[in-house]
Amino acid sequence: MKYKSSTIKSKWLKTQWLLKDPYIQKYVPHTLPFNQRNLISMLDDYTSVFFKPTNGSGGKNIIRIRKTASGYQSQLKTSKTSYSTSTQLYRDLNRFAGSRPYLLQKGIRLARSNGKPFDIRVMVQKTKQGAWVSTALFSKVGSPNKVATNYNQGGTIKTFGKTMKGTDFSSTFAPSLELELKRLGVAVGESFDRHYKGFHELGLDVAVDSKGRAWILEVNTRPQIYPLKALNDKSLYHKILSYGKHYGRFK
Ligand SMILES: Nc1ncnc2c1ncn2[C@@H]1O[C@H](COP(=O)(O)OP(=O)(O)O)[C@@H](O)[C@H]1O
Ligand SMILES: [Mg+2]
Repeated sequence: MKYKSSTIKSKWLKTQWLLKDPYIQKYVPHTLPFNQRNLISMLDDYTSVFFKPTNGSGGKNIIRIRKTASGYQSQLKTSKTSYSTSTQLYRDLNRFAGSRPYLLQKGIRLARSNGKPFDIRVMVQKTKQGAWVSTALFSKVGSPNKVATNYNQGGTIKTFGKTMKGTDFSSTFAPSLELELKRLGVAVGESFDRHYKGFHELGLDVAVDSKGRAWILEVNTRPQIYPLKALNDKSLYHKILSYGKHYGRFK
């Protein structure tokens, strides 16, 4: 059987879907299309703003912008550039974007596990009977001097439990966060079904901020799971494959 699950690339379209649901809405960081006016207004409101390609993936071409004492600083991978005015910053970002559409998103200060920033992948899959199930949670632990935690950007895959043990959160927080994220995953699956046909699986990228609040950074419609093979415990990988068999996911 061939893999069948719908794909939607546009982060902007998917964000609009998330915002339509009052329960999910609270989890979505403020997001606007990139233009000069929106850049200035986001930088007025937040100390850090993410500049992301609307149709991007794999953490590629993502720039973090931060306000500094003397203006602004952008960071692409590990390379930093300073600007004294928002006009200079805008010009450079605009040149970098070229003809690709870009989004601006409120920067979330990622919680840290053993000193490293991480975010969480919530894997949501539909059963043959059509019910959404959050089948796996795992984390992507990034490097403190990069802006994206993606596996392709040097991030490391860790189990949810191990990651949470490395944080400052109390030990009762992990099980409650797990329930919250699994419930959120199911809600996102149900909401996506109201907008488009044919989804069988989704992968939510969820940031947890230093206060323990969860934020949906994006929803992947073709979530990769091969990085999970790097874990000693292959049970999550096999669980995902067993749920994926009926829609043609074999790796
Ligand atoms: N608003 C944000 N605040 C903090 N970190 C972010 C934000 N947006 C993205 N990131 C970081 O960049 C990574 C990649 O961003 P994401 O939106 O998932 O795009 P991609 O499709 O490239 O994976 C995230 O996993 C996270 O580490
Ligand atoms: Mg992502």
